[in-house]
Amino acid sequence: MTTKLLFVCLGNICRSPSAENIMNHLIAQRQLEGEVVCDSAGTASYHVGSPPDSRMAAAARRRGITLKGRARQLQAADLEAFDWILAMDRDNLAGILALDPEGRYHDRIKLICNFCQHHQDQEVPDPYYGGEAGFDYVIELLMDACDGLLTHVLEARRSPQR
Ligand code: 4NP
Repeated sequence: MTTKLLFVCLGNICRSPSAENIMNHLIAQRQLEGEVVCDSAGTASYHVGSPPDSRMAAAARRRGITLKGRARQLQAADLEAFDWILAMDRDNLAGILALDPEGRYHDRIKLICNFCQHHQDQEVPDPYYGGEAGFDYVIELLMDACDGLLTHVLEARRSPQR
């Protein structure tokens, strides 16, 4: 069984495409292709169809990651389709939960920073209106969070509960 991860931010042009492409990099490194797959989406529709933000892509490239994909908006059907849904911040989390008023999928929906092993942050800060250092920090934080998340997902795949 394939485990499907969905990363969610506001615009789907900065944080969540970074998380998706960092996770794909880790999946390839650990030779887990086909076992764990990922996608990303935004709670807002402003940037639907756009490629990742060029400032975010430059920061990712500095760490050896190429950002691929086009922005799309989160749909209610995504909650059924994905096993793990990872919000970058609490606003994103609220936007995701709003699509699940009955709470059927609440146990799949988490803040990605819960999986950080080296950083204390509770949220991935929105870099959109800031400078280059903010974009670099998003990549650094997501590398930590995605590494911890992948380890956790693999443990969950081995345990009988999921
Ligand atoms: P993201 O960043 O949610 O990480 O993709 C943002 C992208 C666009 C906007 C805000 C944050 N915006 O206001 O257009």
